[in-house]
Amino acid sequence: MNSNAIASPVTHPRATVVFTCVLAALAGLMFGLDIGVISGATQFIQAEFKVSDHVIEWIVSSMMFGAAVGAVAAGWLSAALGRKRSLILGAVLFVLGSLLCGLAWSPETLIAARLVLGLAIGVATFTAPLYLAEVAPEHIRGAMISTYQLMITIGILVAFLSDTALSYTGAWRWMLGVIAIPGALFLLGVLMLPDSPRWLMMRGRRDEALGVLQRLRGDSAIVEREAADIEEQLKTPQRGWHLFLENRNFRRSVGLGVLLQLMQQFTGMNVVMYYAPRIFQAMGYDTAAQMWFTALVGLTNVLATFIAIALIDRWGRKPILYTGFAVMAAGLGVVGAMMNGGIATHAGQLFTVAMLLMFIIGFAMSAGPLVWTLCSEIQPLKGRDFGIGCSTFTNWIANMVVGATFLTLLNGIGNAHTFWLYAALNLVFIGLTFWLIPETKGITLEQIERNLMHGRRLRDIGR
Ligand code: BGC
Repeated sequence: MNSNAIASPVTHPRATVVFTCVLAALAGLMFGLDIGVISGATQFIQAEFKVSDHVIEWIVSSMMFGAAVGAVAAGWLSAALGRKRSLILGAVLFVLGSLLCGLAWSPETLIAARLVLGLAIGVATFTAPLYLAEVAPEHIRGAMISTYQLMITIGILVAFLSDTALSYTGAWRWMLGVIAIPGALFLLGVLMLPDSPRWLMMRGRRDEALGVLQRLRGDSAIVEREAADIEEQLKTPQRGWHLFLENRNFRRSVGLGVLLQLMQQFTGMNVVMYYAPRIFQAMGYDTAAQMWFTALVGLTNVLATFIAIALIDRWGRKPILYTGFAVMAAGLGVVGAMMNGGIATHAGQLFTVAMLLMFIIGFAMSAGPLVWTLCSEIQPLKGRDFGIGCSTFTNWIANMVVGATFLTLLNGIGNAHTFWLYAALNLVFIGLTFWLIPETKGITLEQIERNLMHGRRLRDIGR
């Protein structure tokens, strides 16, 4: 049925698919650089512009606000322009935004520049997982999206290290501006990506879609099966918002995506990402130790992501989530207890650091990568852009809330209770995973969609 387009078999489809996914996953690197870069810069910005904590909060969170807006816009962009061109736009905005941050001449311009940077990240963080889910074959889909998370963690680590190195001279403009370089490399990379076969099919460009599928899969039989599956799905067009209003089943999957991202953010992970030095200070460490331990947090975050990559397509999603939330609850619970009792000894300090690192491991091996994976898997094709837009928007808004309330919580209810609060939330998430989260290991996106639309319980749509 589609023989005309499958002209030239490619020798290394696996290499092509890995290359494609790794490049798309570089969007994750940008994401991570953005998250990590600000924590080391704020004290120098504050000193130069002589602004209050409140303005600093604005500088930090304008990026997350921009990202939320960018994620919404990307839902429309990635349908209208395609995934590839949306990624290109994201990359261009990223380079512009980081250069503007480095050049900012006032707090207001810095806020505006962070907003542009946020828009870039919103577009990229919406489009990259969507693209990855659409080009990766299903047996490695989980691992591919975890690669995206790995890139996020590497980005955070690189930003922590670069901030630490530049902190000796207080060169905050360099800290913020230097990430334009990886941004430019990312731009070069995405120019080489193929378009998503699903998107090409949606636009009626069937021959091109088959060509891309052939390059990615190599095996004509698989190409035909996937193409037929996609075509079947496309008989019902993309309708996002309308579908949301009309179809209860779609509202359920959108709600599930939103819930997953709320769970991810309210683990408390970004409290550590944005305020690690401050947390180590509360444990009684001096500035040098604070910076080193922050770098150690970044490294632990990278390394533990490999646990998820190794396990996601073997254990499945749910067992990993249970383990991760339990580890996080335990880690934060003990950190809270130590802070409550007062950390008097050197051994006590180290033990508390170890528990905080345990929390990081819990996140990186579970909710970090898995939430992005699940969010890109659970939406039906005709509402996928809208559904992922909603969940990514939620990720950034919740991220902003967590980032903007941590210091207030510390001052209001104290260190110990703040950590216990997040520990308790992680316990609640174990229950929510049990009741509501589906297992999606090794099942095609099309089957998940059929189950959802037949009204199966959310936790059963992956069976
Ligand atoms: C989250 C980010 C977080 C990062 C940490 C991502 O999955 O969405 O908010 O900063 O993981 O590694």
